[in-house]
Amino acid sequence: MNPASEHWIARTIKQTADEHSELLAKTRAIESLVEGMHYPPPGDVARKLRALAEHLAAHIDEEEKSPLYTTVPEKVPELRDEIALRRGEHVPLMIALRQLTVEAERAHDASMASALGMRIRSAVAAIRQHEAGESSILHRLRELDALD
Ligand SMILES: [Fe+2]
Ligand SMILES: [Fe+2]
Repeated sequence: MNPASEHWIARTIKQTADEHSELLAKTRAIESLVEGMHYPPPGDVARKLRALAEHLAAHIDEEEKSPLYTTVPEKVPELRDEIALRRGEHVPLMIALRQLTVEAERAHDASMASALGMRIRSAVAAIRQHEAGESSILHRLRELDALD
């Protein structure tokens, strides 16, 4: 791998990690609200979900223009399928969060034991899994030593 591509990959890994870290902080805020209080105010849960949904939409918009979804699938066929799989998760993740936001706005109970609370926790877990999958693609890219 030449020094220019090493630099390019390292920069993408760092940038993705920073953005994911910010996004995951918002998922933790929702988790601690839903899981930490016996009866969290549904309005608070709805506000946090809305903020997360907006943040996620902006993140995905930027991310799909980033090397992970543009240069990498073009140049590294070995990663193409997994990148396509991750890309396919973007819309369902956003839809799920928006639906949960609307439901939380009307809900009387968003506690951990409620049906809504459980679905919120699943949605948060799905986001975390998605972001971890993307980070893993970038690390495999570095290992593949594929960009000359
Ligand atoms: Fe993503
Ligand atoms: Fe991401």
